[in-house]
Amino acid sequence: MSKKLMEAASFIRSAAGTRPQAVIVMGSGLGSYADQIEADAVIPYADIPGWPQPTAPGHAGRLILGRRRGVPVAALSGRLHCYEGYSAAETVIPLQTLLLGGAKFVFLTNAAGAIRTTFRPGSLMLIEDHINMTGMNPLTGPNDDTLGTRFPDMSGIYDAELNEALQKAAEAEGFYVERGVYAWMAGPSYETPAEIRALRVLGADAVGMSTVPEAVAARHAGARLAAVSCLSNLAAGVGSEPLTEEEVLEAGAAASGSMMVLADAFLDQVRQLNAS
Ligand code: HPA
Repeated sequence: MSKKLMEAASFIRSAAGTRPQAVIVMGSGLGSYADQIEADAVIPYADIPGWPQPTAPGHAGRLILGRRRGVPVAALSGRLHCYEGYSAAETVIPLQTLLLGGAKFVFLTNAAGAIRTTFRPGSLMLIEDHINMTGMNPLTGPNDDTLGTRFPDMSGIYDAELNEALQKAAEAEGFYVERGVYAWMAGPSYETPAEIRALRVLGADAVGMSTVPEAVAARHAGARLAAVSCLSNLAAGVGSEPLTEEEVLEAGAAASGSMMVLADAFLDQVRQLNAS
């Protein structure tokens, strides 16, 4: 695996002069942040050796390399999911390539269903911890020692200092962010109301079909991580409406301004941490 990742990493290095310090992964309907980056290079995943192709709606499949808020960044516009037929290990190939290339900070976003009854659709939630309900893990298989250790610790996976900075930025802009635990379900079917009740009992506040594989891969490689859910809908049985893909994409688009504030706050924090 390492050899394949190295090949992709050197391809990317030759395509852009800067080495990305931070990686941004935008979820369903949240991809417009990529337009905010002063791009040095935009590379279709199809051109990068060994990278799988995204097939999900709202996931373009482009790597954007450039700068934003003075930080060399890579944005992965186009996420890979296990429900597309990829193994968890395959879904993190793009992120691991960039981690191998030296990126030390990761910002993940997603669309998620709200389980906690006080949550309102359209708001954002800082992920404080997760529950992996899938039985899958991106580190299954031989360990890549160049990236990290065989049995990485997962406590404190979502960086408390970064979350504080994001919360402060939201307050300064006059919007509220929730905090909570994200449960990863394999999808692609949405959950049943009984599954949502079970997830609530287990301590989950929101549910979605992504993010956890990248979070685990980021932690494995020793990167500092923040992740934000756009609560696009009430989870099954919490509200009375059936769930649709359209409402998820619409909520993502409606929240993209607030999400942009948080992504910028994340990069400001990266710049400060690098300077100190
Ligand atoms: N469940 C799972 N994934 C999701 C949901 C949901 O309710 N909303 C957006 N992604």
